[in-house]
Amino acid sequence: QIKGFIFDLDGVIANTSVYHAKAWHQLADKVGVSWTTDLANQLKGVGRMDSLNLILKSGNKENDYSDEQKASLAEEKNDNYLQLLKSLDKSEILPGMEKFIEDLSAHNYLISLASSSKNSPRVLEALDLNKYFDARVDPATLKHGKPDPEIYVRGAQVLNLKPEECIGLEDAVAGITSINGAGEISVGIGDPEILNEADINFKDTSEVTLENIESAMKRKLN
Ligand code: G6P
Ligand code: MG
Repeated sequence: QIKGFIFDLDGVIANTSVYHAKAWHQLADKVGVSWTTDLANQLKGVGRMDSLNLILKSGNKENDYSDEQKASLAEEKNDNYLQLLKSLDKSEILPGMEKFIEDLSAHNYLISLASSSKNSPRVLEALDLNKYFDARVDPATLKHGKPDPEIYVRGAQVLNLKPEECIGLEDAVAGITSINGAGEISVGIGDPEILNEADINFKDTSEVTLENIESAMKRKLN
């Protein structure tokens, strides 16, 4: 029986994945790595340093920078990202998501956040959605980022639930891999060909409703 829902933030609740991508694109240009949709998809959901390393690796530049230089590149990306967040407000909640989260809360489901982003408290605050969350995983306390299962394992633990009692929602391949590895039901939001490992797929957030999830689960069982 499902008792809890574990949410990714960027690209699931908030329209902020486009800002992350924009800021990483700027950084890729700066270090001379070409920006492709494939690289953009690889970076989705992946933490800050891991993302930087993926970018450098994709241009065979992983050995060109010291740890110190990498830290300052990551900081520069974050500064650019924060600039893009300046005017963030409720209008950046993705279609249908506030209603969906409200519904879950009204039906007494427990709700946690499993975002890799150290900026997630700030984003939730700006969107005025904090009130719906029973718990959050602090990404700074993780040993391994997505696609490792750790963050979604913790997402269930912080709700005192077993993984099999939880559904995780993600827009990123790395996130779906993490949910599946944790033994939870995975909902992929976005291109179903890219998110083909998800248990349930929705093309966009407006399709994500409790009803649609329930009927998709019934279909899966039959
Ligand atoms: C999320 C986003 C990624 C981002 C990561 C780290 O998972 O989807 O694009 O790189 O968080 O975010 P941060 O705000 O800590 O740099
Ligand atoms: Mg995401």
